[in-house]
Amino acid sequence: MQIIRQYIEDHKQRLLDELFELLRFPSVSADPKYRADVLNTANYTAKKLREAGADNVEVCQTAGYPIVYGEKIIDSTKPTVLVYGHYDVQPPDPLELWKTPPFEPTVRDGKIYARGACDDKGQFYMHVKAFELMMQTNTLPCNIKFMIEGEEEVGSNNLGIFVKENKERLKADVVLISDTSMISMETPSLETGLRGLSYLEVEVVGPNRDLHSGVYGGAVANPATILAKMIASLHNEDNQVNIPGFYNDVVDLTDDERKALNSAPYNEEEYKKDLDITEVWGEKGYSTMERTGTRPTLEVNGIWGGYIGEGAKTVLPSKANAKISMRLVPNQSSERITALFTEHFARIAPPYVKVKVTPHHGGEPVVTPTDSVAYKAAQKAISEAFGVDPIPTRGGGSIPIVALFEAELGIKTVLMGFGLDSDALHSPNEKYDIYNYYKGIETIPLFYKHYTELSK
Ligand code: BES
Ligand code: MN
Ligand code: MN
Repeated sequence: MQIIRQYIEDHKQRLLDELFELLRFPSVSADPKYRADVLNTANYTAKKLREAGADNVEVCQTAGYPIVYGEKIIDSTKPTVLVYGHYDVQPPDPLELWKTPPFEPTVRDGKIYARGACDDKGQFYMHVKAFELMMQTNTLPCNIKFMIEGEEEVGSNNLGIFVKENKERLKADVVLISDTSMISMETPSLETGLRGLSYLEVEVVGPNRDLHSGVYGGAVANPATILAKMIASLHNEDNQVNIPGFYNDVVDLTDDERKALNSAPYNEEEYKKDLDITEVWGEKGYSTMERTGTRPTLEVNGIWGGYIGEGAKTVLPSKANAKISMRLVPNQSSERITALFTEHFARIAPPYVKVKVTPHHGGEPVVTPTDSVAYKAAQKAISEAFGVDPIPTRGGGSIPIVALFEAELGIKTVLMGFGLDSDALHSPNEKYDIYNYYKGIETIPLFYKHYTELSK
């Protein structure tokens, strides 16, 4: 522990400067205009892995953005940890809401503000630096493989193919990921599950062209109105998802599991205050923790149609659209839920319109074990670094590739995230506390130490 803290202290400024350099790359995977920047980010990541001491570093080409691979095999009889992370980020929009530019990292009040500061550059880079630390202090106790991808925020389609084609190279005993949140730095936690995802887009089409809303209004169904009604009908009065069969495969938690989950500290008044809402909302009969971590949901991510420019335009739009996502829990299947939604949406469409449903991406839910050697090592590492035992929680977010690691490689994952829900992931003014960054670099080598010792 002393060696670790000393190393971080001795290299404090450089550890931060390098992260800042990484954050300056606008590696937005969703928007093709950033293509060159995304590719440069992959090359920078590879360079830093090489400098940290990794062997066989390769920028692996795919049909999309490359996957950065690197490894250090010290002894084939020792366990192997596969570190996964992503160097791509969400689009920074809406730009006008950023206090400082998203790709010019800025420190305010001990926090780094930048797109990707927490999700996931700040977090995966802790692993690169913790690896450097172990190499420099001769304390790497086992084998390590890095796989840092550039398409997580757009569904990891090409990583799925890469994993299937590189089973031998990716062989490992556990996957270690820092891309999730903790309750707080005073109450550290480990996420033990991730929700799955079904993401799709719907289109409601009425007349063959936009119409004058005075000349035709009242005589022709307005697709925007119809879409709004259809969307409103997707939840019932108990705020459950109103799609027949939607809950069929959901595995309910046991009373003990529910109790454990609800014993985690949560202050509803603070929660509401932070978001400026007067009431929370959700499925009847469940707490906020349960609603976000253990229950499936349906959200409208975007909705548009007709005139949305300056001023007024009297128009009856020819079509209206929405982007809709559903978060899934064990044992729901994204393919099945997408099919259920598609059938349902067509069924509820009134005869005045035509509807089209286009699936985007999906991912399966996962629950990670809490009785494994790797989980125990993560618990011990956090206890040591934070001085308190971590609490198990269920995260509401999704990392679709985790289920695939299990299905294709047979490897379970440990989600050792150091973010906070208040880090504004995917929002303007995303941030990551400098404290969390250093704390992560401190905790990771402890994980390796305990994992190797407990594996003996
Ligand atoms: N790191 C997040 C997922 C996350 C955030 C998990 C916080 C737990 C807590 C990841 O980068 C992400 O944003 N995933 C997307 C899914 C992807 C297919 C676009 C998500 O959850 O919306
Ligand atoms: Mn992420
Ligand atoms: Mn994300």
